[in-house]
Amino acid sequence: MNQIIPFSKERMLSGDRVTGKLHLGHYAGSLHNRVKLQSRYDTLVMLADVQALTTHFDHPENISRHLREITLDYLAAGVDPNESTIFIQSMVPEIAELTVFFSMFVTVNSLRHNPTIKAESGNRSLGELYYGFLGYPVSQTSDIAFCKATVIPVGEDQLPHLELTRKLIRRFNELYRPVFPEPQAIISEMPRLVGTDGNAKMSKSLGNTIPLDCTEEELAFKIRKAVTDPARVHKDDPGHPEICPIFSYHQAFRSQEADKIQEACQMGSIGCTMCKRCLFKDLNLMLEPMRERRAMYTRRSDDIEDILKTGTRRAQELAKETLGEVREAMGLDYFNHNQVN
Ligand code: TRP
Repeated sequence: MNQIIPFSKERMLSGDRVTGKLHLGHYAGSLHNRVKLQSRYDTLVMLADVQALTTHFDHPENISRHLREITLDYLAAGVDPNESTIFIQSMVPEIAELTVFFSMFVTVNSLRHNPTIKAESGNRSLGELYYGFLGYPVSQTSDIAFCKATVIPVGEDQLPHLELTRKLIRRFNELYRPVFPEPQAIISEMPRLVGTDGNAKMSKSLGNTIPLDCTEEELAFKIRKAVTDPARVHKDDPGHPEICPIFSYHQAFRSQEADKIQEACQMGSIGCTMCKRCLFKDLNLMLEPMRERRAMYTRRSDDIEDILKTGTRRAQELAKETLGEVREAMGLDYFNHNQVN
């Protein structure tokens, strides 16, 4: 049995690829949980710029712009820099170092058969897959391990990665010495958001998102343009909420009202216009405080840099400490803490 490593406060970590500003899909997936739980745990929020490179290595110039944008999204969504450590993945090189160590005992097959990797790679053959992309679940293991996080709020698509993380951590602890605690996923209670076009995934690359920073007018426009049940031509035609993106948003953001909406739609007693209006009203109410916080932080742009620097410094300290233990456990602590002078 591996010994459980005690903490005064358990540590929570999750992150986002730095590929573009955040949208309601991110919020429903894990961001709302991070905000909700940030005072209960010692919270780290990671800007996954290295992971973004696995798919965007040919346009690295976009990453620094998105770093600021996403940090603002976090702060607007309610991530409190006094409660949470926001940091930049590439500035903690120990994460990459740890990835090399974990990669020694992960098989290519387990990565290739990972269902999320499969879906994201469009079932491309091994001959067309990049090493870094195939291996990003290993890098994600290091994101979690370097700070010994045990609580990982994620969307359901990340579960295979977390399973691998647990496996690799267990294996490391067995092979060398118990250094890492086993993490648990906290899965969002909100359903995965479909896109405004009805596509199964809300995603920037599909152009079907509702961004967290949208104005009232943009929100109204996005909702007005969103597809609904195509079988409903007249407003009293019976609807099929199970295939309607608008209904899925009711379920995610107005769960108390969702049963009523479902029934009214199925009976044809509420039309799409009215149904969309109800959704707009509540979503707008949810986004309003985010707009206020965004405006406040936008006025204090120096603060954003300070928040990132302070957070990254803390992550670097944790990483140095953990990697010291890792090297010692693996017998790689030559000389005096690897100092040659
Ligand atoms: N892959 C995650 C996503 O796309 C982002 C991420 C990177 C992450 N490292 C992580 C999530 C570590 C949880 C823990 O959403």
